[in-house]
Amino acid sequence: MKPHIYFNSHLDSPEDWRDALAAEFDDFTFSVGENVAEPQTVDVAILWMLPESGLDRFVNLRAILSLGAGINQLDPTRLPAHVPVARLVDATLTRTMVDYARLAVYRHHRKFHLFEQRSRKGHWIYIPPTLTATTTVGVLGLGELGGEIAVALRQEGFSVQGWSRTPKQLPDVETCTGRDGLLSMLSRCDIVVNVLPLTDETRDILSAELFTHFKRNSCLVNMGRGPHVVDADLIAALDAGILEAATLDVFRVEPLPEPHPFWNHPKILVTAHAAGTTVPKFAVANIAANIRRAMRGERLAHQVDRARGY
Ligand code: NDP
Ligand code: OXD
Repeated sequence: MKPHIYFNSHLDSPEDWRDALAAEFDDFTFSVGENVAEPQTVDVAILWMLPESGLDRFVNLRAILSLGAGINQLDPTRLPAHVPVARLVDATLTRTMVDYARLAVYRHHRKFHLFEQRSRKGHWIYIPPTLTATTTVGVLGLGELGGEIAVALRQEGFSVQGWSRTPKQLPDVETCTGRDGLLSMLSRCDIVVNVLPLTDETRDILSAELFTHFKRNSCLVNMGRGPHVVDADLIAALDAGILEAATLDVFRVEPLPEPHPFWNHPKILVTAHAAGTTVPKFAVANIAANIRRAMRGERLAHQVDRARGY
């Protein structure tokens, strides 16, 4: 097996990925950038984003492997419809996402967002600590990441609820589906963690209309995608006191432009799409397994349902 692998990412190091793949394949061709020799021989594309010229020249492409758990950044409408796409599922990515969720949830649970605001003004306030069991966390999306996040938070003693498209069972986590399930869950949650994929159904979901169903003074953690949130509606919900604070890791435009009202908003903490990370030497085993599947003409692991959008 001598796969021709095409790589494109402005965020990930091609050298690190080439070295990691060299531990998996005795012989392979690795192409990067716009000038690919013999593009008709490319078997697999490993991508964070589409190259500017798209993938049309790779006429014998067998698989597209996302470097992320999400695939919306690949601009799915521009991907060849007949080529299977797989998203990344990787233990390090999951672990870092769970750690981020735990940290953000604890920060809101122990009201650090209020201490931060007051300490900037030199105000001493005492907010009594509370036990995790008194805080209810809602997780939007109970897939590879949301499921692990919900279980990890439950293990910390939080009361955890979760929402997904199809019914899910998780130990000691109250789960629901559908619009009614969502609204009823939101009315009970002190902290809402979004880890949905971006699809036609979930775009703009965190809007003014939905915020009216949030529990008063609840907090939002967005670690899904920027376009899940209607930016102006979030600012309005924070300013109106519907929401007490937000931790945002993902944005409609990244890096978040300056000026943007999220920067310097006293109730918002911005992190730079840094919730989860993919480390080539750890993630390569899953990517290599999917390359082998593609070369053998088998179905990919974690293959995206193109109609569903994730
Ligand atoms: P999965 O595909 O494993 O899970 C997606 C979950 O969302 C599933 O539970 C699914 O329901 C649910 N879902 C999808 N559409 C809807 C809908 N319309 N209504 C209700 N629930 C819905 O994805 P992952 O958990 O691996 O990743 C989730 C997202 O996290 C990624 O797509 C990406 O956007 C984001 N991400 C962000 C990172 C960061 O650094 N900030 C890093 C990695 C990922 P069902 O179970 O029924 O299919
Ligand atoms: C991903 C991401 O989708 O890092 O994996 O955002």
